[in-house]
Amino acid sequence: MSENAGPQASPGPQQAYLFADPAAHSLSPRMHRAAFAWAGLDGAYEARRVTADELPQAVAGLRHTGVLGANLSLPHKESVVALLDDLTPAAQSIRAVNTVVHREGRLTGDNTDAPGLAQALSDAGYPWSQGAGVVVLGAGGAARAAVYTALRGEQNVWVLNRTRARAEELAADWTAPNPEIQVRAADRHEIPWSEVGLIINASSAGLNAPDETPLAEFDFGTLRPGALVYDMVYKPAETRVMREARAAGVRAENGLGMLAHQARLAFAAWTGRDVPVEVFLSALEDGGGAA
Ligand SMILES: NC(=O)c1ccc[n+]([C@@H]2O[C@H](COP(=O)([O-])OP(=O)(O)OC[C@H]3O[C@@H](n4cnc5c(N)ncnc54)[C@H](OP(=O)(O)O)[C@@H]3O)[C@@H](O)[C@H]2O)c1
Repeated sequence: MSENAGPQASPGPQQAYLFADPAAHSLSPRMHRAAFAWAGLDGAYEARRVTADELPQAVAGLRHTGVLGANLSLPHKESVVALLDDLTPAAQSIRAVNTVVHREGRLTGDNTDAPGLAQALSDAGYPWSQGAGVVVLGAGGAARAAVYTALRGEQNVWVLNRTRARAEELAADWTAPNPEIQVRAADRHEIPWSEVGLIINASSAGLNAPDETPLAEFDFGTLRPGALVYDMVYKPAETRVMREARAAGVRAENGLGMLAHQARLAFAAWTGRDVPVEVFLSALEDGGGAA
């Protein structure tokens, strides 16, 4: 989209965008269009394929009158930070931005993945602050949001990633400035599974791959009683991790709730309107694709 990489000044409806590469299969347009309609606002949401080279121009275009802001997805959540005027505390801690809010020419980076996940966990009945351990699978941007969320309510977080060095790096980012925080990179045998009340799959293992799992040959029955497995992946609707957890009698949820809540929170940041999450969830029904 080179000749058209950034939004243009527009006197018409208020505009919001998704910048991602690829962007074609995103579910975000249908969620935000449903929200504009529910709120009775004259707004439009467009998913644009923006390459890494095109990102600066696309972000500069967000400063135009009539532009509410944008969502960022792979591969831009971290690189966009340098192009913004300021960050919310959540985006600063996570070092990743999924929502840019435009106000009078200034661009603020926010991260609604983390509070979206927190709300989805609460909706799934996760009893926060029960003193349970949390295992985060993965060490990318989604895992950073998961660690941030986990630390809101629990003290012990283990990061288990295919590439251990990335888990070490992630854990050090939290513990270096705050040595009292218990975020540890771990291999499977180092984790006291009977103390673990929450597993969050923040890896992309299982995405569009019903037989793939980041936790093969794992006995979910060893988890703390009442444990929850939350898979950020939502396609397929029941991933292998979820299937195996349920077979062992452990509750498991997919990432649709998080997807809907992160969109709800982004929409509220842009428009000031808190549209019920059900509006976003119904827009996702029968959908297939990515945020
Ligand atoms: N539900 C939602 O609203 C929501 C929001 C954000 C993200 N997500 C999902 O979260 C997932 C991760 O996103 P991200 O942005 O953090 O991606 P990312 O930065 O690319 O990180 C991917 C992570 O997954 C690991 N991984 C990939 N394939 C694997 C496999 N076959 N087995 C084990 N580990 C594997 C990688 O391990 P290595 O370090 O070893 O490469 C890495 O830690 C994606 O599926 C994304 O769709 C969902």
